[in-house]
Amino acid sequence: MADTTLLSHQPSLQQWCIWCKYLLPIALWANLLHAQAAPVPTVVVRFSHVVASNTPKGQMVEQLQKLVQQRSGGRIRLDIYPNSTLYGDDDEMEALQLGAVEMLAPSLSKFSAVGAAGFEVFDLPFLFQNMAQVRCVTQGTIGGKLLQSLSRQQMVGLGFLDNGFKQMSAPHPLKKVQDFGGLRLRIQASRVLSAQMRALGAQPVVLPFGETRQALASGVVDGAENPLSNFLTQRLAPVQRAVTLTDHGYLGYAVVANGQFWAHLGAADRALLTQALLDALQQGNRLSAQINQQARTVLEQTPGTQLHTLSVPERQALRQAVQPVHADFEGRGGSTLLRQIQRECLHQATEN
Ligand code: SIN
Repeated sequence: MADTTLLSHQPSLQQWCIWCKYLLPIALWANLLHAQAAPVPTVVVRFSHVVASNTPKGQMVEQLQKLVQQRSGGRIRLDIYPNSTLYGDDDEMEALQLGAVEMLAPSLSKFSAVGAAGFEVFDLPFLFQNMAQVRCVTQGTIGGKLLQSLSRQQMVGLGFLDNGFKQMSAPHPLKKVQDFGGLRLRIQASRVLSAQMRALGAQPVVLPFGETRQALASGVVDGAENPLSNFLTQRLAPVQRAVTLTDHGYLGYAVVANGQFWAHLGAADRALLTQALLDALQQGNRLSAQINQQARTVLEQTPGTQLHTLSVPERQALRQAVQPVHADFEGRGGSTLLRQIQRECLHQATEN
């Protein structure tokens, strides 16, 4: 017997005629309207980064994407590659210089490795007492000059973004210098951070950000330093029992673009991207403290995670122990920059 269920799904000639006469023109017209509403992008910006979306950097980049889309009507498209999905922090700078991506926001600690040594100043432990002091540097003439210096690295420095102050994490609280003894602590590739960990009696281990969790889980390293937003979103809590609220150093970012890409943009597109970025950075810098505070609230309620606050004498003792790191930085040619920061910015007493 013939299979009538299959045959009954074949469109009849009459049905085909209805389709050709009425539905096909409607479908073509709708397609045309859609094409007009969503123009094909003429500029595509690949923005790679290494953190999660719900962090100060992740949020800033998403805001930038939104603003660029709105203001260009879709003509400029920003594609985001978060969480080291395209490049890690060990190869993203090279990718930018080679033009494999157009924009990045590496942490300031990553710039000395590509020859921008002045950026190391941000890594100095216990340099900044509050965000007002940091902003005085990043949003003032000192920050402007640091961004300009990046032209020697075939990059255009476009602006600064805060994450916040770093905290130490380890299997036990790190309240005294003795608590650091013999620990292997993950750091970013920075001479200042390396000297900081050595001054505290720990062994620094340079690792890409994206490999930190695995290294902690497998015992390759014992601890790390990061603001709480990164600690939470990299899911470090299950592999680190104790977080000591040291606020010992600052973590921030510089947004950079590939020099050739930037130079070849049309003037109007460059202006649009610049303004969208300034607006996204302003919002990001407004939100960063809030995002870290939210992370702290979550971690305070996370079973198995202990947050330890330093007493004033404990913090003072750690601060004292890392003073040679400042002297070392000055000895390597950083003294003019450090003095300028001390003179112009470190008197700021209020929190932003
Ligand atoms: C980042 O926030 O971009 C990474 C920080 C780190 O490598 O510790």
